[in-house]
Formats: sequence, C-alpha cells, structure tokens
Amino acid sequence: MRVLLSTSAPAATGAFGSTHTEASGTGTVDLDAAYALPEPVPGIPHVRSNFVTSVDGAIEIDGRSGGLGGPADRLVFRTLRWLSDVVLVGAGTVRAEDYGPVPVPAERQERRVAAGLAAVPPVAVVSGRLDLDPQARLFGGAVRPLLLTSEAAPARARRALEPVADIVICGERTVEPPAVLAALAARGLLRVLTEGGPSLHAQFAQAGLLDEACVTLAPVLAGPGRLGMMTGPAWAAPLDLRLVHVLEESDVLFLRLARRPDSDSDSDSDSDSAGR
Ligand SMILES: NC(=O)c1ccc[n+]([C@@H]2O[C@H](COP(=O)([O-])OP(=O)(O)OC[C@H]3O[C@@H](n4cnc5c(N)ncnc54)[C@H](OP(=O)(O)O)[C@@H]3O)[C@@H](O)[C@H]2O)c1
Repeated sequence: MRVLLSTSAPAATGAFGSTHTEASGTGTVDLDAAYALPEPVPGIPHVRSNFVTSVDGAIEIDGRSGGLGGPADRLVFRTLRWLSDVVLVGAGTVRAEDYGPVPVPAERQERRVAAGLAAVPPVAVVSGRLDLDPQARLFGGAVRPLLLTSEAAPARARRALEPVADIVICGERTVEPPAVLAALAARGLLRVLTEGGPSLHAQFAQAGLLDEACVTLAPVLAGPGRLGMMTGPAWAAPLDLRLVHVLEESDVLFLRLARRPDSDSDSDSDSDSAGR
C-alpha cells in the first residue's frame, strides 16, 4: 500500500504505537498512524463511517458488500475496528451480512487494553423492530452486543433478546441518533465506528453527527439498481468534507475524509454550463 496524498501528517505514533505497518511493493503505510483518532474528550463522541463502494457508487452486489472489497480493504476494515470503542451498525446490515462479534487477535487485544480500551469492541445494533434471531452469530461472542431501540419495540422480540444482549432505549417512536451517542458515551464508548448501512449513515450525517468518512473506492462499475452509501429523504443541502488522505493498493483507493467545520460553498458563482 502507498500514500498518494496526505493533507495532515499522521501522528508520529498511532494510538497504539507505530506497530501495524503494512508494506507492499510500492511503499509502506502505518495504518494505525494513518487512521489514528484524536484523543477522546470525555463525553464527546467521535464518529466515523467506513464503506466500500464501486466507482459508480454501489455499496452492494446482490445484497452484500463482500464482492467489492479485496484483501487491502479487509485490512483497513479490521484496523478501523481495532481503533474503535464500538462498532455501530443498522439491523438491515446485520441481517444482510450475518454480522458476528468483532474478531480481535490476542496480541491486538493486549495492545488495546494497554492503550485503555476494552479488549474487544462490542457491536451496537440500531433496530426498531428487533427482528433478530437470538441464535444468530452476533450473539455468540464473549462480549454482549448492545441493541439500541425505541420504546415502541415489540415487547415479545425484546424479551427474546434480553438474555443475549443489552437492550438500550434511545427514543420514543424511533431510534434518535443523538440518544444513541449519549447511550454509548455513558458507557465510555466514545470512538464510534459506524459500518452503516446506508439508512443509518444518512441519519447520522444529516444530524451533523458524522465526524469523518472512510471510503474504499473499488475499481469496479457495478451498474444500475444498486444501493448507495445513503438512503432516506433528500437533504436540503450537501455536506462538505475535507480530504485527509488517499492511500492506494492494486488500483483500490482508500479515502479518509473529515467534516469541515464550516460548509460554506462558493460554487454557485462560478459554475459552468454543466452546473459543476
Ligand atoms: N459496502 C459497504 O461498505 C456496506 C456497509 C453497510 C451496509 N452495506 C449494505 O447495505 C445493505 C443494508 O442496507 P439497510 O438500509 O438495510 O441498512 P441499515 O441502515 O444497516 O439498516 C436499516 C435498519 O436499521 C434500523 N434502523 C435504522 N435507523 C433506525 C432508526 N432511526 N430507528 C429504528 N431503527 C432504525 C431498522 O431496523 P429494523 O428493521 O430492525 O427496525 C432499519 O430497517 C446491505 O446490502 C449491506 O450489504 C454495505
């Protein structure tokens, strides 16, 4: 893997020391340093998302993301998880991808604990209906998942899942993104990695709660009719991001983008006839 562009020098050592170095024919990238998170501020969550997408914006092929990512994507995917306190995901993605607990190698668990994190980050699932099988892989790990739901969740489903997960109410009729972050912060889970899906991603971004987006751009055209990175109602205005870095391996690009503190746009005054 190589660095194509870096707009801010990564920390000299990542949160866990400069130890997770990924080398390839064209260079060396310390992924821990490249994706290092700011030191958490008590009570203030940092939320980043991670998606793999085709060049034409598809995030799934036949309902799964696996056909888009390759070995380098899986490495970045795992590194982002290992740098996080919690993996936040919508129930649609859990069902589509048959989510399991987060695998963390023993050596990595030790480094996480030494850095003040839990050995393994829990998975936190946002669901209104709680239509999840208590026997599913997700509930078979050492760390209990969190199920973030609303007061309107069906009582029967809730009772069935109580033995295998911690159920947290984060809204009255529907799950509210600020309540999700407050519930996670109350548990000391401030470094939040959301792996989508597109419905949850859109809600967090629209609520101004997404601090950064990590995007793997696969050199693929998936064609029409696929899901994109966001679903839901149209926004009144786009959200501007700032490029932090671009990494590359085997024609796959890895973009890290951060939310701009101000999203002023001057594009209206100088747009050409194509509107760009
Ligand atoms: N390429 C990638 O990186 C990537 C990443 C993630 C997902 N994906 C793909 O995305 C697809 C899944 O999309 P999706 O839209 O179903 O995913 P999603 O956003 O993961 O899940 C939507 C579900 O989350 C729950 N939910 C979301 N917001 C809620 C709220 N405010 N209140 C209550 N519940 C809420 C609901 O669950 P209930 O129905 O249980 O109430 C809803 O049906 C899959 O094909 C997956 O492969 C791709």
